[in-house]
Amino acid sequence: MYTPAITGTGVFTPFNTITNAELVTAFNQYVDLYNSRHADSIAAGDLAAKEHSSEDFIVKASGIEQRYVMDKTGILDPEIMHPLLRQRSDDEPSLMAEMALDAANKALAQAGRTAADVGAVICAASNLERAYPAVAIEIQDLLKINGFAFDMNVACSSATFGIQAAADMIRAGSIRSALVVNPEICSAHLEWRDRDCHFIFGDVATATLIERAEDAKKPYFEIRSTRCATEFSNNIRNNNGFLRRSRPDGLADRRDMQFMQNGRKVFKEVLPLVADHIAAHMAEEGLQASDLKRLWLHQANKSMNDFIGRKVLGRTPEPHEQPNILQDYANTSSAGSIIAFSKYSSDLREGDKGLICSFGAGYSVGSVLVERHS
Ligand code: COA
Repeated sequence: MYTPAITGTGVFTPFNTITNAELVTAFNQYVDLYNSRHADSIAAGDLAAKEHSSEDFIVKASGIEQRYVMDKTGILDPEIMHPLLRQRSDDEPSLMAEMALDAANKALAQAGRTAADVGAVICAASNLERAYPAVAIEIQDLLKINGFAFDMNVACSSATFGIQAAADMIRAGSIRSALVVNPEICSAHLEWRDRDCHFIFGDVATATLIERAEDAKKPYFEIRSTRCATEFSNNIRNNNGFLRRSRPDGLADRRDMQFMQNGRKVFKEVLPLVADHIAAHMAEEGLQASDLKRLWLHQANKSMNDFIGRKVLGRTPEPHEQPNILQDYANTSSAGSIIAFSKYSSDLREGDKGLICSFGAGYSVGSVLVERHS
């Protein structure tokens, strides 16, 4: 048995930001257009008028202040309201592969490694831009990595589940190292015309290099253990799939082909699930709350993270103990906890322990307990 370790992480951040002010202005223009175009039906009571969004609500309900996106022109055009992402030819690298490549190269550089040192690629994300060939195999090809690659999807928990898969293979000896990449183009599966959720998501890609601890060339995080759990729920759902067509006969939009959630229920049901999951993981490791120096949580909602932090530590965490990045990135699905880990972990000292935890659709919860070694 070998000890797996995170030896490098990388984040690709898109160039475009959308502030809440920009988002709300565009959304409200769309609402005004919609209401004036449907004025007769609204007046007759056949159609409900749409309501304006508000910056204050967004910050208060979620903690999100801005988001990064691959394209902002389409999203902010009240006549379009979705990203305009050019359909690439089969001979060009896919968009997700390109984003993941940038993050992967950063992770390799941090670990002092090259692609030649890697034995496998796992592309773990909440939406993949095609069914096959696997995006992971394309990334493997672009990086000229030997070995194998595969895609997987556990929605917002894709990264931690991917890390568990890689860590277990390294522990067993079937591979020596793996890149787990999480390209998330959330802007393309968000309904930007839906006031209840139009503020939630952003785009990003993260990468985590996992190697045998004995191979690490620089300070690293030993993966002490991982735990994954799932419990079926329809409260976060996206029905897009190969049996469905988005606009049958070019007629009505299919709202269920994009992100749908019952946010209140998610909030209420996922919190206890996550708190119990982390408590059980720590108990099995014989750890107390005081043994944890840091929590890198999934980044969906600030109040949710504040609650989990309080529950796990038994007190209000100091900001440095539970860093949030969602104010800048919004919810980036599986990548959120890895962005937080990547940006806020290098200051930990020899022997310091921390926990990465993701949660989301499925429901799914994944936790990765790490220990710093220099
Ligand atoms: N601007 C202004 N008001 C808005 C609004 C917006 N953009 N969106 C909703 N509102 C209004 C609602 O109409 C409602 O009004 P009412 O009280 O008159 O009915 C009120 O604000 C509260 O709406 P609600 O949807 O109940 O808000 P909330 O406090 O539950 O916050 C979420 C919404 C989505 C931020 C929150 O439920 C959440 O974060 N849930 C968990 C989400 C999650 O983790 N999902 C996982 C995704 S992978």
